[in-house]
Amino acid sequence: MRKKIAAGNWKMNTTFETGKKLVGEILDGLAANPPKQSPNEMLVVLGVPFITLKKAANILKNNPQVKIAAQNCYSEEKGAFTGEISVEMIKSTGAEFVIIGHSERREYFNESFEMLAKKVDLTLKHGLTPIFCCGEKLETREAGQHFDLVKNQIAGSLFHLNDDELSKVVIAYEPVWAIGTGVTASPAQAQEMHAFIRNTIAGKYGKALADEITILYGGSVGAKNAKELFSQSDVDGGLVGGASLKAEDFVTIINSFN
Ligand code: 13P
Repeated sequence: MRKKIAAGNWKMNTTFETGKKLVGEILDGLAANPPKQSPNEMLVVLGVPFITLKKAANILKNNPQVKIAAQNCYSEEKGAFTGEISVEMIKSTGAEFVIIGHSERREYFNESFEMLAKKVDLTLKHGLTPIFCCGEKLETREAGQHFDLVKNQIAGSLFHLNDDELSKVVIAYEPVWAIGTGVTASPAQAQEMHAFIRNTIAGKYGKALADEITILYGGSVGAKNAKELFSQSDVDGGLVGGASLKAEDFVTIINSFN
């Protein structure tokens, strides 16, 4: 059975001190309101800034349900790339996930399909789990091209993988028009795209493998709408921005799975 995931993407928020505090608040919230799913059924992933990775991973070392993600990695193994962070470096902190291809990285840092494919490859090579983001801008949806675009994003950066590799990838559908805007995709819109993504994967890798892939929804997920979004049959959880910075809201989101 595929795993459910409630992931937070803190983006460029929190300092070392406030980040440490937020991890503690989330853990306190989970101790007070423990999820009913086991770690085999559901994971919590905290996408923290690079400077917080090691501290957060240390705090969570013996926690089977809460894991740490980096928000990005570089597309080369090592070497003269001043300021960049490699997958090996991320792994050495104890983080287990890497968010790859967030729309903010595609937009502001011009990350191409090819570059993202390399990041996915390196992440898998080092035994970490990629959370691969896809999603269309408003104008693409209005032009009726959102399915084509998402298919191209997935095919362009993931379809070179073999079955075993692809089975380890988590996908996050994040329509750009819903990110940070307060406008959430309706549960029906999310379900429609998630089913399309799963069918697209089934077309290349077969239905059995497609049914095992965790597909998250991201874009203005909050304490109030998570339950309905997560109840859609192809929505396996969320990648949460703003609401993941408020421990109380994020714990409510984590406890929104049926
Ligand atoms: P918001 O939840 O703030 O809309 O951000 C979503 C997102 O980009 C998560 O990666």
